[in-house]
Amino acid sequence: MEFKFTETQLMIKEMAKKFAQDVLAPSANERDEKEEFPYEAVKQMGELGLLGMMVSEKYNGAGLDTVSYVLAMEEISKIDAAAGVIMSVNNSLVCYGIQEWGSEYQKEKYLKQLATGKMLGAFALSEPEAGSDASNQKTVAIKDGNHYVLNGTKNFITNGANADVVLVMAATDKSKGAHGISAFIVEKGTQGFEVAKKEKKLGIRSSDTVSLSFTDCRVPEENRIGEEGFGFKFAMKTLDGGRIGIAAQALGIAQAAFEASLKYSKERKAFGQLIAEFQAIQFKLADMATKIEAARLLTLKAAALKDANEPYGMASSMAKLYASKVAVDSALEAIQIHGGYGYIKDYPVERYLRDAKITEIYEGTSEVQRIVISRNILKT
Ligand code: CAA
Repeated sequence: MEFKFTETQLMIKEMAKKFAQDVLAPSANERDEKEEFPYEAVKQMGELGLLGMMVSEKYNGAGLDTVSYVLAMEEISKIDAAAGVIMSVNNSLVCYGIQEWGSEYQKEKYLKQLATGKMLGAFALSEPEAGSDASNQKTVAIKDGNHYVLNGTKNFITNGANADVVLVMAATDKSKGAHGISAFIVEKGTQGFEVAKKEKKLGIRSSDTVSLSFTDCRVPEENRIGEEGFGFKFAMKTLDGGRIGIAAQALGIAQAAFEASLKYSKERKAFGQLIAEFQAIQFKLADMATKIEAARLLTLKAAALKDANEPYGMASSMAKLYASKVAVDSALEAIQIHGGYGYIKDYPVERYLRDAKITEIYEGTSEVQRIVISRNILKT
């Protein structure tokens, strides 16, 4: 086992770090405050290859590995976790899903554009009554000639308002439960497909989260991903990879909270000395650094397993479960270290806490990750 990155991986990390500092950092707080989507930054991310990192060059992607993706996701999310989730959904749910299970037609028509950011993607699995219980799909897709007619509502859809294409899971045969769900690529502008409510959120406020409605929305058969009935497995397999992206996002937030705490503790004086000289602060910093490193190792392990074509579902759930907890804990500690200044918007750490919380919820709550992990443990 070698704990060493390749030159390419280090180059990608540096590129993402520079982009985040130059382009995202100056406006991250303001966009959070105003709930403004980072249109220009997302366009530039596409041009830099950050939106189709693992897509093969044949389909205009960057042709990189998952480890590089984790390194870049951490750097982007360290500065702006909202930009991080926009990037994560496009890369690991939408592009990866189409690259692995889409048809050649779908790759030519959609993946090539998604990989370069000319199109943005969203992933619509959740519904008002199907969050953790994802197979309880109420959205239906009824076959009519060479089309499917979709009716239903999706909610909490990241990128939903700005997406050009949405991967939609819907029941094609309700009697078959999880085996009666299919996945479809639905284009923006398709009649009957509308963006409904935009949510006002605690954190990641400059990314959009919306509900989507489908009313007699006709989707051509060639837009179905895989066979009829493959939709639930498609969603689960895609989420196995997505959870690595969210673990890396959580890692970025935790690292940001740690770095802010380190800096502040070397500047702030109390009782006649820098607070970094108090053991109470030193131990907090030591615990934060240790937990962040453990979260990073779990996340990189899941990525390395995926790159090696080894089973990685359990590793990815462990990485997300642990990294999301470390993000919340680190943000809380950062606020404590900053005292009253941590609670106000003059310092960035209150945003880190607001942004961290969602990593314990989306792409499977921490409870869902424990289901996945325990089922894997019990079946061995
Ligand atoms: N890979 C392949 N197949 C899988 C799989 C996986 N990871 N997980 C499940 N399956 C298969 C099972 O093997 C089973 O197939 P068979 O009957 O042929 O064996 C079938 O799928 C049904 O699986 P389960 O019986 O395990 O299904 P379940 O109803 O018990 O659900 C669950 C399991 C883990 C709780 C699942 O529902 C789940 O992951 N829920 C959370 C959903 C989620 O993460 N939502 C996030 C929404 S997307 C999002 O947040 C994106 C965003 O905007 C940021």
